[in-house]
Amino acid sequence: MKVIVQVCMLLALGTITYSTSSTWGVQNATDYLLINKKVTYPAVGNVVQTFYFDIPESYQSNNKVISAIYLRDQFQNSSGPINTLLTGGPGWTYASIQMRTQAGFGLNVTFAVYGR
Ligand SMILES: *[C@@H]1O[C@H](CO)[C@@H](O)[C@H](O)[C@H]1NC(C)=O
Ligand SMILES: *[C@@H]1O[C@H](CO)[C@@H](O)[C@H](O)[C@H]1NC(C)=O
Ligand SMILES: *[C@@H]1O[C@H](CO)[C@@H](O)[C@H](O)[C@H]1NC(C)=O
Repeated sequence: MKVIVQVCMLLALGTITYSTSSTWGVQNATDYLLINKKVTYPAVGNVVQTFYFDIPESYQSNNKVISAIYLRDQFQNSSGPINTLLTGGPGWTYASIQMRTQAGFGLNVTFAVYGR
């Protein structure tokens, strides 16, 4: 069910405008901002690079249930990464997100993670 909803959301986003930003879950006004972070990596030649963003981050702990994850591509011109939620996410206290850059482009994204 969750997967179907996510696929529908992706399709909806895709028809409005091509965007390499991703959102998982829904934020509620009473949620706490758990993580607000910028992640950048330089381009390396003409290769596709794969990066991971984990919640909690290394050496951190998290006991709040994630409600929403906003991954915003700062290139804002369709040169951003392809994002996949591998494990966890909304409803869990952890998540692992994979970002695959486009060949020849680095990464420049921000993460905002909300929980309750
Ligand atoms: C937000 O979350 C709280 C705690 O789960 C819940 O009590 C409240 O009804 C939610 N508000 C909205 C607008 O969904
Ligand atoms: C990331 O994008 C922002 C907004 O476009 C820009 O100001 C910043 O310089 C970029 N950072 C890197 C490392 O490319
Ligand atoms: C998108 O923006 C980034 C950073 O500003 C830039 O390096 C890249 O060449 C742009 N891509 C396209 C297709 O315009």
